Amino acid sequence: MSKKVAFSGIQPSGVIHIGNYLGAIQQWVDGQDKYANIFCVVDLHAITVPQDPKSLKENTYRTAAIYLAAGINPKNSIIFVQSQVPAHTELAWVLNTVTHTGELLRMTQFKDKTKTGSDNASVGLFDYPVLMAADILLYGTNLVPVGEDQKQHVELARNLAQRFNNRFGKTFAIPEPIIRKSGARIMGLDDPSKKMSKSAGPANYIALTDSPEIIRKKIMRATTDSGTVIKFDPKRAGLYNLLTIYQLFSGKTEAQIEKHFIRKGYSNLKRELADLIIDKLTPLQKKIEYYMKNKRLLDQVLKSGAKRADKIASQTLKEVKQKLGLVA
Ligand code: TYM
Repeated sequence: MSKKVAFSGIQPSGVIHIGNYLGAIQQWVDGQDKYANIFCVVDLHAITVPQDPKSLKENTYRTAAIYLAAGINPKNSIIFVQSQVPAHTELAWVLNTVTHTGELLRMTQFKDKTKTGSDNASVGLFDYPVLMAADILLYGTNLVPVGEDQKQHVELARNLAQRFNNRFGKTFAIPEPIIRKSGARIMGLDDPSKKMSKSAGPANYIALTDSPEIIRKKIMRATTDSGTVIKFDPKRAGLYNLLTIYQLFSGKTEAQIEKHFIRKGYSNLKRELADLIIDKLTPLQKKIEYYMKNKRLLDQVLKSGAKRADKIASQTLKEVKQKLGLVA
């Protein structure tokens, strides 16, 4: 039996943090042999909010470098940049015509990003989930490994696939999200009531490229409560978040971790957690730097990835156009 297709992506906007790593990239790497994988750098999603062109270019390279450094093997998995495969925007337009405006108005991420009530959010930001649905549906995707915050977007992709199939005949596979039990939602270090987010300011996250000094400082200052006993208790959000990060980086069980920290205080936990993160990120950073110094290698990987992706995507788009009566 052929392998299930897994598709996912990250925006090359600003830093990539340990929330992205633990919620998404780590599970991509873990599922690498199980699925036929496609990992995209979604630059067209990034430009739904203003980007500095020079930084966007560099961040696009860096995101690809992170995929490779984390252990995605480009020989098996397809790694490519979204804007290099034109079928994404074409299919997004077609899907726009079967999407209800009400569906997009209900997207919580759009509502959060436009909370201030100003009406200068771009139409691209509003339409963002439809482009994401196009990304997913072009490849016959069965599985979408993401963090919890993308669940609603994947549900929209499912609904659009079903609606299109009902109107025009079976065309798209119906995708489902894969969301980890632990790590689905890494919380902000300075505000553990909200998810870790690149837009929240540097004290909120640990970037994959942060130096050991910065990592130590951010973890030591992370918000916790005034308790003393170290236990996995979701009601103690700050502590729970630090323990979850510890668990995902160490691979240990909750029981092993609680036992290890018996009669130790929060500052012990923070010190050990900082050491652990530094230990895991240092080799990753070295590899990221290696790829960033070898842009020609990155270009080769991305070019060959785009070629492989384009082959699949163009075929799907052709079928879609035929079904719609757009081509003979
Ligand atoms: P983006 O770039 O915001 O985030 C990339 C991935 O990281 C996950 N993530 C988190 N996981 C756990 N805890 C957190 N605090 C946290 N913050 C982010 C996200 O859930 C995501 O998996 N719309 C997507 C990109 C995208 C995409 C796609 C994903 C575009 N097309 C098609 C899958 C399939 C996004 O903005 O992710």
